[in-house]
Amino acid sequence: MSLLTKPYQRALKLASLAGRVGTSVLGNRTANLFRTEDSKETHTATNLIRNARRAVETLGSLKGGAMKVGQMLSLHEGLFPPEITAIFSTLQKEAPPIAFEEMNQQIKSELGERYHLFASIHPEPYAAASIGQVHVGELRDGRHVVVKIQYPKIDHIIRADLKNLKNVLGRIFAMFSSIEWDPIWEELKARLLEELDYSLEAQNIRQMKKLYENIPEIIIPDVIEDTSSTRILTMERVDGISPKMACTDIYPQQLKDRWGQILFDNLIRSIFNHRLIHADPNFGNFAFKTEGNVILYDFGCMKQIPDDIYAGLKSMAIAVLDDRLDNIPEILINMGVHKGEKQPIPLDMIEPYYHMFKDAFRKTPEYVFGEDRKFYQKLIELGKTNLPRSSDISVPKDIIFIDRTVVGTIGNLRKLFARGPWRNIIEKWVR
Ligand SMILES: Nc1ncnc2c1ncn2[C@@H]1O[C@H](COP(=O)(O)OP(=O)(O)O)[C@@H](O)[C@H]1O
Ligand SMILES: [Mg+2]
Repeated sequence: MSLLTKPYQRALKLASLAGRVGTSVLGNRTANLFRTEDSKETHTATNLIRNARRAVETLGSLKGGAMKVGQMLSLHEGLFPPEITAIFSTLQKEAPPIAFEEMNQQIKSELGERYHLFASIHPEPYAAASIGQVHVGELRDGRHVVVKIQYPKIDHIIRADLKNLKNVLGRIFAMFSSIEWDPIWEELKARLLEELDYSLEAQNIRQMKKLYENIPEIIIPDVIEDTSSTRILTMERVDGISPKMACTDIYPQQLKDRWGQILFDNLIRSIFNHRLIHADPNFGNFAFKTEGNVILYDFGCMKQIPDDIYAGLKSMAIAVLDDRLDNIPEILINMGVHKGEKQPIPLDMIEPYYHMFKDAFRKTPEYVFGEDRKFYQKLIELGKTNLPRSSDISVPKDIIFIDRTVVGTIGNLRKLFARGPWRNIIEKWVR
């Protein structure tokens, strides 16, 4: 399989890409000195997109670490401009399945004697995992399971790509932001490396099972330790309605509303009560039941909410509920969000976002996610207008995955067109 061969070639490809992006940006900066304000911006934007496209093409052909990072970045809507994020999302494409014999060998070499606890493993892949494949099977004791199997050597390949990836992405990032790339990269890298170790995911599942003991509307499939390792994760098999099906007309809107409310309640509870969030809102990580419950999959990416961020988010939610727009710049500064050297973010940059949240938290009529069909278009336009003024805005690294989870959940709720008492749910967990 091409993704597993010749890591040095991959490194070379990435290194030369970093070089090309760098020269091109440098060229653009020099050229900009001779341009008028207006065309300078257009030119920068065009150049930016051209470079990002080139970067993504290379990332796509490399698969492995690059693909994983691309996927990750495509969910971070706030980190890169929307044009770039859209290109990253093309990396979501599934990798071609690997011959079962190779995957089966990986299970044997990981589990040794314990391999015999399986009665059978179905050779046909059941689902694509980002760095492996999911197969269904049965244990000798009769339990139905799914086995998440890492591609052989993928962890080494990703680790080997990291340095080059840091450079390529850092150069793209520097095109539109003057803040430091290193802390942001450290945060991305930390979560990525955690995802490579399935025994950490098993630990997360155990912790989450405990936290959710008395929350029947959320179902978390248990881990089966005996047949798991750092590269193999065996779980009880719990199937549900896929997100794609859940959004169709087959199901009544009332049921979709309930699913949406559970997802939202879960997000707010995770932030303000558990202070530990499932930080991969990819819709594929959820499934639904006609009884109204929601199944949660994939605990490879979790984020603990630090004290300062917790306090900031809480004050911010209260400011929105209590109509205190003027309090927000200072709350943001205390959280580490500021312009330049600790200057507040201008109110007019905050206002449009503030009004979006105010609208969702209005008392009546209950807000329907997706009712404003131009929502994303507006967000993108807002981002474009603010781009020249946002290049020196600092964000604390700890907020990156929280932001991604909130934005991703909103996206999921919009797909369900969920209606609900959003204000009450927020009040319940914040006050
Ligand atoms: N316990 C389970 N029971 C049934 N299906 C599962 C289970 N765990 C995962 N899946 C399916 O496999 C897919 C990939 O698993 P996931 O843990 O999300 O992998 P990755 O971490 O690579 O995204 C999920 O989107 C889901 O459809
Ligand atoms: Mg997943």
